[in-house]
Amino acid sequence: MAQKIQILVDGRTVEAAPGAPLLELLQSRGCEIPTLCHHPDLAPAGSCRLCVVEIEARGKRRLVASCTAKVRDGMSVSTASEPVLAHRRRIAAMHLGRWPRVPVIQEIARRCGVVDASAYRGTMTDENPRACVLCTRCVRACEEFVQQRILDFAGRGARRHMTMAYGDVDPHCIGCTSCAYVCPTGAIQVVDDLNHPHDPVMIRDHGMKVNAEMARLDPQQCRMRQVGTANIIDVMDQYDLLPCHNFKFGSHPDAKKIYSAVFRDQYLTQGEDDGCWKGCSMACAKAAEDFELKTGPYAGRKVLVDGPEYENAGACANMGCFDPWFALEWNFYCDTYGVDTISFGTCMAFVMEAFEAGVITEAQTGGKKLRFGAMLETLECLHEMARGEGFGVDVGQGIRWLKEKWVREYGADPAFLQDIGMEVKGLEVSEYVAKESVAQQAGYSMAVKGPQHDEAWLIFMDMVNNQIPSFEDKAEALYYFPLWRTWFGLMGLCKLLWNDVVPVDNKTYPPQQAAKVPDHVRNYFKFFEGMTGIPLDDEKMLAQSARVHNLQRIMSYRCGRGTREHDLPPYRMMGPVTAEEYESRAERYDKQLREILGVDPAGKPVEEKIRLLRAHREAQYVRVLETAYERRGWTRNGVPRISRLKELGIDLPEITAIVRDAQD
Ligand code: SF4
Ligand code: SF4
Ligand code: FES
Repeated sequence: MAQKIQILVDGRTVEAAPGAPLLELLQSRGCEIPTLCHHPDLAPAGSCRLCVVEIEARGKRRLVASCTAKVRDGMSVSTASEPVLAHRRRIAAMHLGRWPRVPVIQEIARRCGVVDASAYRGTMTDENPRACVLCTRCVRACEEFVQQRILDFAGRGARRHMTMAYGDVDPHCIGCTSCAYVCPTGAIQVVDDLNHPHDPVMIRDHGMKVNAEMARLDPQQCRMRQVGTANIIDVMDQYDLLPCHNFKFGSHPDAKKIYSAVFRDQYLTQGEDDGCWKGCSMACAKAAEDFELKTGPYAGRKVLVDGPEYENAGACANMGCFDPWFALEWNFYCDTYGVDTISFGTCMAFVMEAFEAGVITEAQTGGKKLRFGAMLETLECLHEMARGEGFGVDVGQGIRWLKEKWVREYGADPAFLQDIGMEVKGLEVSEYVAKESVAQQAGYSMAVKGPQHDEAWLIFMDMVNNQIPSFEDKAEALYYFPLWRTWFGLMGLCKLLWNDVVPVDNKTYPPQQAAKVPDHVRNYFKFFEGMTGIPLDDEKMLAQSARVHNLQRIMSYRCGRGTREHDLPPYRMMGPVTAEEYESRAERYDKQLREILGVDPAGKPVEEKIRLLRAHREAQYVRVLETAYERRGWTRNGVPRISRLKELGIDLPEITAIVRDAQD
């Protein structure tokens, strides 16, 4: 806890954290401080000067705006000295003279003891009870919440007024209503709700809560607004979770070359429109302007590149391509060609390992030396894929197809390829190392559509935040979170506003509850209710989602992919496949052999240690898998039980007919 200091407030000794906002401290102590430009969800502006207090420090006394002042050692604050009260009275009277019928101004004047403002009445007096009082809150909300500059002030002195550019309706305004939310007078009114929601105020109020949290907390927690999801690269590398060289390792000495600060400082343009949704207060999508391409059909052209997002940069590490230039060039061309960066990156990493292991040679790759870090060759594969020629076409078929071809045509070892080919259900694994998290292994592998990036949050709960330590916790997480993800995916809502930035008091919940970020789950429920008029809670949400999730599983089963063997990951996801991998983390693995399995690793060949560890980890995985099946109401083979379909009200004859023969 930060060390407290002592200051004097109206002659009394008060303890406070150095640097704390002075206004908050004074208000928490019940001091009478009028404010106008201040809003708790906005950064302080210090423009109206109504909140002045007198501060004495080092023998000097001065009036300062308490909303912008910070607690400092040795300060003595007077909140009601005669100079303070006189100053406030004068400003309040000026405001009342100019806007005599605005309720918030009347209230401030009353609190400041102003009874007569006639001296300040004149040609500038505005009798509108909803007049704009030039408090600046709306301008700041537009900038801070949605990173726009739609509103500003024009004119000087008496002519000063709030406006959009050139006094006209700015087409860039997204109608987010942030400005109306903070306006103290009602000068800004929302006149249309194009989507006709059931309760627009409920939606706005909860949306503003999110906006305020993003503006206030993101700079300390994630810096998404600054660097986008690329901030995760640094965290993953530090936690040994960044996939490097086809998921062999979780960190790499060169990873620093693609840390978020590199993109922020050298490439990203700040303050540009978000590439996802313009009104988003998280605004995680970033862009690099005037990036000159070196390869492909647009070589030599300067372009705008979206990103990189974490998964793009993570895939670069997976391919051993630790160069920000490559990350952007590759990202641009994947976007331009419509190629999924995760699938291509993970598949290419597999190709590189296979090349280094001698499974394929230059004879198969069209002369390209596809070792880890081969940036130009990787880009050439991508261009080939787009042109529909050469080895790039094979890469475009994905890992599952490549494994089959290489076994069939080149006599490759199927067991080795199965172990290192990072795909489940035919989909390439997204960019997180899950070796030490059985929950994440199951989260990826049990996902109906395969191990895509939407399923990657368990890694944070398990490995970064340690919120689901026991098997039961993990099984419960594997019940709740896929259903929760399915739910907000079905609603078309973004995940990032759920658990990237979390409320300050989220840690007061027990760990398993904290992992759910209950306050943010409620925001989503309120949004749903505001749109539809239907109140929602955890139970109803889970039931809604479970219906869809079970139907998805049944469809998957009908397509031949919805049983236990399709929920098993390649061993590379669970543990070290090669001696090189084991040796790179030997201390950790040896310790686990000693402490979990009671085996003394000393003197044992690395192959034997790998075998022992593998048997243990595979058994652990099966245990979690079976517990999760049970919790979901599925058979031991992973098929939804008809009793569960009944419970959910989806036991329609044509549905039950599909799974009837697969019951326990
Ligand atoms: S509605 Fe949103 S974008 Fe438009 S001016 Fe207000 S805060 Fe800015
Ligand atoms: S419109 Fe409202 S929020 Fe904006 S400056 Fe005027 S009073 Fe303040
Ligand atoms: S509230 Fe502090 S200057 Fe306006």
